[in-house]
Amino acid sequence: MAIQIDGKAIAAQIKDEVRARIEQLREQGTEVTLAVVQVGADPASSVYVRNKKKACEYCGIISRSYELGEETTQEELLALVQSLNEDPGINGILVQLPLPSQIDEDRIIGAISPSKDVDGFHPQSVGALSIGLPGFISCTPAGVIQLLRRSGIEMEGKEAVVVGRSNIVGKPMAALLLRENATVTVAHSRTKNLAEVCRRADILITAIGKPKFFTGEYIREGAAVIDCGINRDENGKLCGDVDYAEAEKIAGAITPVPGGVGPMTVAMLMVNCLASLELQQA
Ligand code: GUN
Repeated sequence: MAIQIDGKAIAAQIKDEVRARIEQLREQGTEVTLAVVQVGADPASSVYVRNKKKACEYCGIISRSYELGEETTQEELLALVQSLNEDPGINGILVQLPLPSQIDEDRIIGAISPSKDVDGFHPQSVGALSIGLPGFISCTPAGVIQLLRRSGIEMEGKEAVVVGRSNIVGKPMAALLLRENATVTVAHSRTKNLAEVCRRADILITAIGKPKFFTGEYIREGAAVIDCGINRDENGKLCGDVDYAEAEKIAGAITPVPGGVGPMTVAMLMVNCLASLELQQA
């Protein structure tokens, strides 16, 4: 039976570390402010945004909300991003995705100042990660590394298989695992013999958005299984990409959904908000 990795507890530990540091900074007269921009009222986005603001409040980070209507134009959003870039009272800028179809997401991401890009989505942040320069790191993959580290799971020299190649999770995940000296394979929807490839993994990371796709045959005995999926099953219940009931019998360690990677994404956003001070002072 696998050990369950408690993402909620590890995220709480990280938020407490951030909170302590923010408190010290406040005593020295420094505050950290995050601008949270939401366009429209997508219900899932509203939940994520609420969780992020709640975490800010807990950590002592000031969050400023910008709630724009569904009909907002690209020019209007670009103008807001520009004004936040120039505002010295704003340390981090988060534009919640997805954006309505009239807005080009890449244009918006590219308009955020790389020194305030707490999501780590700007091409400069992505490039910095890939060549080992300082910069913001996408929160979900950064959270996965913390889960592994803080659970005592060695990455160096291990076979890591990442399934999914999104810009937000799969690709930065592979870059981070490489930085930890794992041997990294990135698999995706066109990969042949996917189950066979996954069974090579000492560390299997799934990020494909398909409910309970990874059944027992994808998992090597004793592997660490980290599930980045957030899906609804046939009964509308939250579930991951991994069939947990099957996987836990085979894996050595596994994250649940909910309560695994999800809370870590928010905790790492708090870490990035704190890091924004250092990047801005550099
Ligand atoms: N939409 C889904 N995940 C994320 C995230 O991590 N950041 C932002 N800005 N939007 C998202």
